[in-house]
Amino acid sequence: MDHFVYRGGVLHAEDVPLPDIAARFGTPCYVYSAATITRHYRVFEAALADVDHEICFAVKANGNLGVLGLLADLGSGFDIVSVGELERVITAGGDPARVVFSGVGKRVDEIERALEIGIACFNVESEAELVRIDAVAQRLGVRAPISLRVNPDVDAGTHPYIATGLKENKFGVDIGRAETLYARAADMPGLAVRGVDCHIGSQLTRLAPFRDAIDRVLALIDRLAARGITVDHLDVGGGLGIRYRDETPPSPAEYAAALSERVAGRDLKLVCEPGRVLVGNAGILLTRVELLKPGAEPEDRHFAIVDAAMNDLLRPALYDGWHAIVPVAEAGAVAPRPWEIVGPICETGDFLGHDRELALAEGDLLAVRSAGAYGFAMASTYNARPRPPEVLVDGAAAHEVRARETVADLMRGERRLPIA
Ligand code: LLP
Repeated sequence: MDHFVYRGGVLHAEDVPLPDIAARFGTPCYVYSAATITRHYRVFEAALADVDHEICFAVKANGNLGVLGLLADLGSGFDIVSVGELERVITAGGDPARVVFSGVGKRVDEIERALEIGIACFNVESEAELVRIDAVAQRLGVRAPISLRVNPDVDAGTHPYIATGLKENKFGVDIGRAETLYARAADMPGLAVRGVDCHIGSQLTRLAPFRDAIDRVLALIDRLAARGITVDHLDVGGGLGIRYRDETPPSPAEYAAALSERVAGRDLKLVCEPGRVLVGNAGILLTRVELLKPGAEPEDRHFAIVDAAMNDLLRPALYDGWHAIVPVAEAGAVAPRPWEIVGPICETGDFLGHDRELALAEGDLLAVRSAGAYGFAMASTYNARPRPPEVLVDGAAAHEVRARETVADLMRGERRLPIA
């Protein structure tokens, strides 16, 4: 459930009509609903209430300071993949002691900063990384808390670009080798073994792969215990999918029940790293129709060129991601027809949606739904297009939590060669 609703024929974000936001901040513009994020967080948290748990929001899904601050206030921890994300969390008021650090290529300076600030755990993805973290920690005279991210080799049944739990993927260590690596880690003076971690993919719409992965990881935890290596937490990663179109993903309650039933009776804290499920349906991309370019024949393609493009929302171009595109206000006298909703970028892949039955006129506002996760976070400035503003709506107030970039911002730090 989200708080984007029509009232009097006009789409609102909570109590704010979207045309007001367009008038105030221009288009394209990302709009988030604080009530929706709050609701999703609380539902997730309530679903895990029966087990000792920590929710670490995956910052990569939406790293805006306003969004992170809201989640920090709700009590969320954070899953980060770079020192940049760590600094964002700290700036937003997040608690570093509730941060887990994932990612296959952590640099020495990133490890140093994370140790200095005192994060909860490093999710280590290779033997080489164990050696590196041990060396940095020893040099700093501390012990680095670690989990090994194991690759349980399950097929999550999602888009190949966002499946991560198969043996062929670059992520984690093979579960068959994990015992040997844990034994090695336990002997390293700079490391403190704390947990086991896995993450099998994103936008998962079935429970079975989660269950399979957890069973394999719990079996590993038992084998480790038999060798005298005990862990205090199991990090199950993120990955719970959302409805973009007609998917029927498990609810957070069903997901949580599947997890809790597996860990019940064990002295293990459950760590989750949800991203999309918390923020995906809490955001839209607001865009305006610039020009209409209908085909000559009814069966030709009809193009609606809008002011948002693949640089603003990459998911359709990159993963063929389907996002609902809805009118902000009820149509006037125009007849609906199937439109290709495209941006102004010079690539055929620059589309937001194909074949959308809409009644459109120049100047109309459209809302691209489910854009709160991996939307702005993946935006670029391709074609020298400044990135859009981000507005966080809270009840009747619309807060600009990121201003629109300017062309001057884009050129900052660049220069011509010195002229002789
Ligand atoms: N933990 C780890 C280690 C991850 O790699 C990810 C996402 C998450 C947690 C959060 O997963 P979520 O709950 O959001 O599914 N850009 C793609 C999604 C990439 C996901 C990468 N990893 C998209 O737009 O669909």
